[in-house]
Amino acid sequence: MSDLEPGSAAPAIELREAMRTARSLRRFRPDPVSDEVLARCLEAATWAPSGSNAQSWRFVVLRSPEVRAVLGPAFREGWDWVRTIYGQADERPAPDDDSREARLTRTMLHLVDNFESVPVYVLFCYRLTGFVPEFIEGGSIYPAMQNFLLAARAEGLGTVPSTWFTFAEEKLRAVVGIPDEWRIASLVSVGWPVGKHGPVRRRPLHKVAALDTWDNPLLNG
Ligand SMILES: Cc1cc2nc3c(=O)[nH]c(=O)nc-3n(C[C@H](O)[C@H](O)[C@H](O)COP(=O)(O)O)c2cc1C
Repeated sequence: MSDLEPGSAAPAIELREAMRTARSLRRFRPDPVSDEVLARCLEAATWAPSGSNAQSWRFVVLRSPEVRAVLGPAFREGWDWVRTIYGQADERPAPDDDSREARLTRTMLHLVDNFESVPVYVLFCYRLTGFVPEFIEGGSIYPAMQNFLLAARAEGLGTVPSTWFTFAEEKLRAVVGIPDEWRIASLVSVGWPVGKHGPVRRRPLHKVAALDTWDNPLLNG
């Protein structure tokens, strides 16, 4: 991947609209994602803040068959694990179940069933210094991921972050050659979506924001 051409402009979308509609998409068309489009999204990732502006990040674009062979089984294991945690006894929702939960389960299953065919993945990695608590230092990578997700949304790409790489982390580290002192924060699947972007569903602001003291709502509900 070469440097961006000057004037390699991303499509315009209003920032708040991008944030409001950047929901996770888990079904992708087989069409490739070009290096140029990916580079624009990754450039947006590099604009994120990080503690002390350390920028101790590395974004690894993954497409190789070797990586796919590691990730597919890992994600299916991740799915089995999550299904147990959520107490879902049946592996697949009944065909006539059209509930929101069943639809979400189907799309998650589609992703794990077809994980090897995802057009491209991006690993978000960070090198910890150990000077501050790990949780706080680790927080320096997620703004970069979010910038990437929003830039991808602007391009019309679908994305979904995941941490199920942990089910094969040692193998993944070996095949990618990730040094020991680097942590993997997230693996983002990327592709041209089958579905559409749409409004995210979140708890309303008045339920999550407080003023001065923990229990004092910032706004009335
Ligand atoms: C750190 C992180 C890990 C996630 N892991 C997974 C995952 O393993 N599998 C998955 O299908 N979605 C995963 N997601 C996506 C979330 O499930 C999704 O963002 C959330 O349900 C809200 O839905 P929305 O993005 O469609 O609005 C993850 C998101 C984040 C931020």
